[in-house]
Amino acid sequence: MYCVQNITEDLFFVGASDRRLNLFENVFPIPHGVSYNSYLVMDEQTILLDTVDKAVSGQFFENIEHVLNGRTLDYVIINHMEPDHAATLDELVLRYPQVTIVGNTKTFAMIKQFFTLNDDCPKHVVKEGDVLCTGKHSFTFVMAPMVHWPEVMVTYDTVDKVLFSADAFGTFGALNGNIFADQVNFERDLLDEARRYYANIVGKYGPNTLQIIKKAENLEIDVLCPLHGPIWRAKMPTDTPAHTPDIAWFINKYKKWGSYTAEDTAVVIAYASIYGNTENAAQIVANNLAKKGVRAIAMYDTSVTHPSYIVSEIFRASHIVFASSTYNNGIFDPMHTLLHAIANKNVQNRTISFIENGSWASQAAKKMKAFVEPLKNIDVLEPTVNIKSSAKEENLCELEQLAREIVDSLN
Ligand code: FEO
Repeated sequence: MYCVQNITEDLFFVGASDRRLNLFENVFPIPHGVSYNSYLVMDEQTILLDTVDKAVSGQFFENIEHVLNGRTLDYVIINHMEPDHAATLDELVLRYPQVTIVGNTKTFAMIKQFFTLNDDCPKHVVKEGDVLCTGKHSFTFVMAPMVHWPEVMVTYDTVDKVLFSADAFGTFGALNGNIFADQVNFERDLLDEARRYYANIVGKYGPNTLQIIKKAENLEIDVLCPLHGPIWRAKMPTDTPAHTPDIAWFINKYKKWGSYTAEDTAVVIAYASIYGNTENAAQIVANNLAKKGVRAIAMYDTSVTHPSYIVSEIFRASHIVFASSTYNNGIFDPMHTLLHAIANKNVQNRTISFIENGSWASQAAKKMKAFVEPLKNIDVLEPTVNIKSSAKEENLCELEQLAREIVDSLN
């Protein structure tokens, strides 16, 4: 049965949520599910903005059929070709063969790569600034390459001031009935998942993200419609609690994430420990920090916590401690995976320190530093603490000194 909601008078949410999928992109845990947002505008002509993942195609097609109510589908605008949004395009074309696909040249190149569509299928190629009038509404197109694929564009309804922002401003988590960010406690319940989504999915492309934000800031945005997670609206209902985050608040979060600016003055300690001795050294540093009055400390065992959560925490916090055992003459594998992810995201502007453990040939610190060295504006604090098998009396002085350096830097 259809399950749709109005966003504005002419604009309908026709997407759906998936709570069965364990791993988004087959790598990122999504314990609270994910939504695949799709939007349908009922104008003199009818316009669908993006499709959905195959997992929710049944719901999606019922939704479209219900909203169209016997009318034909005139356009489908493809803002992003990744299969979590475009996988049902071929079935859409089969069901609505007269539909005109709207995309840029890169979109159509990717359509050819992913699908074998009939060459006669109606197409409308757009570029930056082009306008598509559909009656009352006019849509203009803004290219957003690498947010998060090269073909990505965003679409702006100049009449209702709605920005369809593709992956930008998305959030992990299914939509549990309430589709607007102001209907939930976003800061308490969803901010961490919004950050984890950004850091892991789009995080590598900070400069591209800042570019699209700059373009978005020239637009008056009444409604912000991302492809995942809740929709943001400028005009909230009158009974909305005071201090509910608004569009500007969320754009500011994105500015911080896109510019690799820490949100919090805080310490994240990530450790990779085989038998608990490296963990013990990390814990001693945490205790020393706490004794010196530091309250914002988060510790993660890289063997226990999925790296996507720690990457997200590293986007949040200003100071990071990496502690790893030496393993097979290198970094213990879970820390290796984490550091690879951090280097891959081009994390910048952080203060980092290292603890290594080695029973006969310590290599972990040298190899951890090699991951961090190419990153921009990283301040490495000394001392790098070396533990031989387990922390002893003689290590306490250095562990204390490291905590002192971190405190000085925090201040
Ligand atoms: Fe939600 Fe890049 O796809």
